[in-house]
Amino acid sequence: MLISLHDALAYAEEKNCAIAAVNTPTFEMLLAAIRTAERHRVPLILQHAEVHEPINTIENIGPAMVELARRSEVPLVVHVDHGESFDYVKRGFDVGFNSAMIDASVLPYEENLAVTREVVALANEYGYGVEAELGVMPGREDGRTEASAQALYTDPDRAESFVRDSGVTALACSFGTVHGLYRAEPHLNYDLIDTLRSRTGVPIVMHGGSGLSASEYRDCIRRGVRKINYYTYADKAAFEAAQQHVAENPDTFTFSPLTVAATAAVEENLDELVRVLYGL
Ligand code: 13P
Repeated sequence: MLISLHDALAYAEEKNCAIAAVNTPTFEMLLAAIRTAERHRVPLILQHAEVHEPINTIENIGPAMVELARRSEVPLVVHVDHGESFDYVKRGFDVGFNSAMIDASVLPYEENLAVTREVVALANEYGYGVEAELGVMPGREDGRTEASAQALYTDPDRAESFVRDSGVTALACSFGTVHGLYRAEPHLNYDLIDTLRSRTGVPIVMHGGSGLSASEYRDCIRRGVRKINYYTYADKAAFEAAQQHVAENPDTFTFSPLTVAATAAVEENLDELVRVLYGL
């Protein structure tokens, strides 16, 4: 069933856990994410990032995400991830997404605020929640992290005024994670999460969820992270399973068995994540 971003985050608050928000640009990722949520009977966020348009457009994979979410017995949110403009978020709502992130974090503060306010006004017409981002995280949501990319940690003063003046439901913050693979040990600023949480009063969203240890996830959750975005390591597990299938079946000459192996590997990967995030 479809539930709102607000309700998913309220669940996380009540259970003192974080909701897994998984990018599902392929059908394999989508099936694996839903099956994992159903196996553990937990709410989950299915999301499509604008940067994944070359894999599948939101108009193609989106209706499948919405329909499978509606049919499922577990509560699911269908969320636009890193929408880079008002128009992209609108495209998501038009195909039935019921939640969105607007990411104008590369723009100067005032411009980020202005775009975010427009998106919040649109979402309010539907009663949908909005996530926005303040501070800049290194790396792209397609799993590539440029070695030179510099993080700009979220400023608590700005975060407080941004949330107050935009009316967002949740705030994606930069506190030490990166999108994609870690080239070096992450240094998470837990005190910053604490401060951001208390100053803004809204749930904090972690981007770049791949590659942290179970204790790092738990420490972030304890400080107020309520949504954890996750993609690269699940996609990597799919790739490695497909590679292994080819190595173990040298006579194979069709593609479909690779998708079965990939789906199973993503399920296994997400299973581990969900156990930690929901404290199961
Ligand atoms: P990873 O690809 O690092 O797991 O991050 C995903 C993400 O933050 C999507 O918004």
